[in-house]
Amino acid sequence: MLVVGATSGIGEAVARILAGRGWLLVVTGRDSGRLAQVAEGLRAHGASRVVSLPLDATEFGDAFEIVTKAAASAGGPLDGVIVCHGWSPPEKDRLLSAEETRGVIDANFTSAAIILSAAAAHLEQRSGGFLCAISSVAGDRGRPGNFTYGSAKAGLTAYCSGLRARLHRKGVAVLTVKPGYVDTPMLRALGVGRSWLVADADRVALDIVRAIDRRRDVLYTPWFWRWILLVVRLLPEAIFKRLRT
Ligand SMILES: NC(=O)c1ccc[n+]([C@@H]2O[C@H](COP(=O)([O-])OP(=O)(O)OC[C@H]3O[C@@H](n4cnc5c(N)ncnc54)[C@H](OP(=O)(O)O)[C@@H]3O)[C@@H](O)[C@H]2O)c1
Repeated sequence: MLVVGATSGIGEAVARILAGRGWLLVVTGRDSGRLAQVAEGLRAHGASRVVSLPLDATEFGDAFEIVTKAAASAGGPLDGVIVCHGWSPPEKDRLLSAEETRGVIDANFTSAAIILSAAAAHLEQRSGGFLCAISSVAGDRGRPGNFTYGSAKAGLTAYCSGLRARLHRKGVAVLTVKPGYVDTPMLRALGVGRSWLVADADRVALDIVRAIDRRRDVLYTPWFWRWILLVVRLLPEAIFKRLRT
């Protein structure tokens, strides 16, 4: 199993659950030192083997090759690819610069689509397995506080929807994960404090692994975000544009 962005937050928590099940894991992150620490932890949790491959997913050539590299390091075809990496800069009350705008779209959409495309080709050949991508509830409707990030996630959600329909006939499941607020370094960097709306990464990771097991299509996690987003999506634009969210 390949986990992209396993050095922190949700990705690390998902990898830990899979390690506990004895999987052979290939994990990636940008920081080699942190990657080595995480790999050590996953071995201690029971992974049958852990291969760590440094990757900056916004180096698109490297991103495209990561699936082939992971399979070569694992010594055989992959059963699944979980794309967890992502980045959200503070966007509230300011417009992002050109460089930041491109950075957000590259980190959350372009790089993820490139990896998923390579992974789809890999799994199509073996007619089985699964893909999982961490999108966000932010992709369901653009809000003033994070619409660049949200639009990149909206692109990822649409990409996964099309890929799911393409791969369905080939026996490959595609899961889109839409978390709400999750207590991770990314959320803390945005200055979001703890509240009942903020879930633990371990709880969200458990939901994700269960949804993979059940070959589900779309997961809102925790569950109540499905209903919050239903209301948010139904609000008329004339009202929505007046909200300070
Ligand atoms: N936390 C939330 O409230 C929340 C809500 C909805 C969706 N999400 C999504 O959930 C996913 C995981 O986020 P998190 O909250 O767990 O954040 P996190 O703790 O900051 O972890 C982000 C992970 O992405 C990796 N990463 C970031 N940019 C990368 C790049 N250019 N190339 C390769 N790896 C990169 C990081 O690796 P290094 O920094 O070590 O390289 C790290 O492993 C993201 O897609 C995020 O958008 C989070």
